[in-house]
Amino acid sequence: MTPQQIQLVKNSWQQVKPIADTAATIFYQRLFELDPKLKPLFKNDLQEQGRKLMNTISFAVNSLDKLTEIIPAVEALGRRHAGYGVKDADYQSVAEALLWTLQKGLGTSFTPETRQAWIETYNLLSQTMRKAANPVSA
Ligand code: HEM
Repeated sequence: MTPQQIQLVKNSWQQVKPIADTAATIFYQRLFELDPKLKPLFKNDLQEQGRKLMNTISFAVNSLDKLTEIIPAVEALGRRHAGYGVKDADYQSVAEALLWTLQKGLGTSFTPETRQAWIETYNLLSQTMRKAANPVSA
């Protein structure tokens, strides 16, 4: 990622943070619309889960200029996800739900450049998670 892309992600995330609870609600609604069979994987309180998701995204966004430092934590997150029953292909549905949520939350400030910067951020995280969960085929 370029320094400019990192800045676009950081600035746009600052705009989403104040509406984090709403964003999490939109995210899960969209995710379960895209793939209803993912719903039973979430066994705990969705609001609490939404907060964890938002906190983790915040942590990753704050670490974008020193990503190597968080790789072990992201790998461990990926291995835990395999234990939750998450499959490789599910990462695509989550990507779509996340981009949808950012679009809803940011409106016209979600420019094509910002969208592309988020795609790269998500790909970095999800590839690291998937590889750790599935070391042979990923
Ligand atoms: C960048 C991608 C993702 C991030 C940052 C993320 C973040 C998190 C976090 C922080 C937790 C809390 C538990 C823990 O730390 O182990 C969690 C749990 C979970 N995530 Fe993710 N996740 C991601 C991708 C996915 C994908 C692709 C799925 C597929 C459906 C998924 C489904 C779940 C489920 C089922 C749980 C457990 C929920 C429960 O216990 O009720 N996540 N995730």
